[in-house]
Amino acid sequence: MWLGIDVGTGSSRALLVDERGAVRAGFTALHEDMHMERPLWAEQRPENWWDAVVQAVRGVLAKAGITGADVKAIGLSGQMHGLVLLDGEQVIRPSLIWCDQRSQAQVDFVNATIGRENVLRYTANPVLTGFTLPKLLWVRDNEPANFARVTKMLLPKDYVRFKLTGDFATEVSDASGTSVFDVVNRRWSYEMMDGLGLDRAILPRCYESSEVTGTISAAVADLTGLKAGTPVVGGGGDQASSAVGNGIVQEGIVSCTLGTSGVVFAHMEKVAYDPAGRVHTFCHAVRDKWHVMGVTQGAGLSLQWFRNQLAPGTAYDTLMDEASTSPAGSQGLFWLPYLMGERTPHLDATIRGGWVGMTASHKRADLIRSIIEGVSYSQRDCLDIIECLGVAVSDVRASGGGAQSAFWRRLLAQILNKRVVTLETREGSAYGAALLALAGEYGSVPEVCKVAIRETDAVSPDPSDAAFYGKAHKIYQDLYPALKGICRDIAAL
Ligand code: XUL
Repeated sequence: MWLGIDVGTGSSRALLVDERGAVRAGFTALHEDMHMERPLWAEQRPENWWDAVVQAVRGVLAKAGITGADVKAIGLSGQMHGLVLLDGEQVIRPSLIWCDQRSQAQVDFVNATIGRENVLRYTANPVLTGFTLPKLLWVRDNEPANFARVTKMLLPKDYVRFKLTGDFATEVSDASGTSVFDVVNRRWSYEMMDGLGLDRAILPRCYESSEVTGTISAAVADLTGLKAGTPVVGGGGDQASSAVGNGIVQEGIVSCTLGTSGVVFAHMEKVAYDPAGRVHTFCHAVRDKWHVMGVTQGAGLSLQWFRNQLAPGTAYDTLMDEASTSPAGSQGLFWLPYLMGERTPHLDATIRGGWVGMTASHKRADLIRSIIEGVSYSQRDCLDIIECLGVAVSDVRASGGGAQSAFWRRLLAQILNKRVVTLETREGSAYGAALLALAGEYGSVPEVCKVAIRETDAVSPDPSDAAFYGKAHKIYQDLYPALKGICRDIAAL
């Protein structure tokens, strides 16, 4: 069997697949809540990810009733952009994770030092507050004693790789989100590192996603039940891995992953990027291919926030049932999902979320439905830009926690105005990581996807609902420019 391990935001998941890519067992171990000391700050402890991974691996082996000797190879996937700093083997401070938005001053510094155009030329993307580099510079500027200790900088899943194998390594898809990676040439950008006076030696070695980067150590074998010497492949950032798990390994089909963040993802044969940088152009987990993706920062996060604050203990299924009693458009209520600023299309760390259009007649059902609609409008913004880049889109494959809901999938079809397809396996990133480990047996990632991935059901948009949502989406789009200045003032208050 082949094992995929995903280091997510809320949890880590271990998943076993057989030689045809069929899921045999999965086990999830929860993480501590992210620590948010100030608005828009978000940290997690890498040691907590590692503990969760150990628990998930032990759990999945026990659940499947197998031993480590039955696992032929392991693939890793994980939340992207997070900054893990090591002094030797020691974690220096908690990780500033993907949604942390504290580094606008550092983004401005990079643009002033390197030049906006050069950053785009060197990395194929603008530098954003969510990416790894400005987080590293924030530590340099604000915690010089911590910065002075740094011997290695790793991404979240690559910290777990280090714990599993002892190797400092990453792979092209996750490295693409650091702002120090040359996405076009699939190598670290020394132009960026040298230009900012950063030590090249802190970077791990970078591989293609299906290449072996190391093997399970003897100590980890004792701890987890895995077998010493089992190969670990590069794997991918959670989005590239999830795309592999959704079979997005050729042009035409895009995926929409509704996790904590929401991502619309398309495969690209040739590298192209949005000159305004509103969508990310990154290396795909498929050798010598790229992908483009648009990101809604607060997708599942919006619903999670609602549940935690306004409906504690209520199951998501119950919230969905309640939402389905509200009419299309939630009686004129709009949700702006900007709980952690926004990436696509606004690239704005200071924009804030909230409801607009509330009246005394609104019920809790309208609040929930408006959240699902607001997140889906934002995903529509992502899709529109991707289509503008010349990527043809026939179907959208939905995955992630949000896509477990038939109600949300139906709404997504109306709002995206596309056929929304679900797959037999809706496992997302951990599944993609397992397929990347299995790819070695098939020779390539697309070959393993051909065998493993099958569509199950599809929902097509109803023309009159799609027309209604077309109008509502325009109103949603007008809200950002109206509120942008006010949110800057709030942030400065
Ligand atoms: C992708 C991104 C998220 C995180 C957390 O750019 O930021 O997908 O990886 O899931």
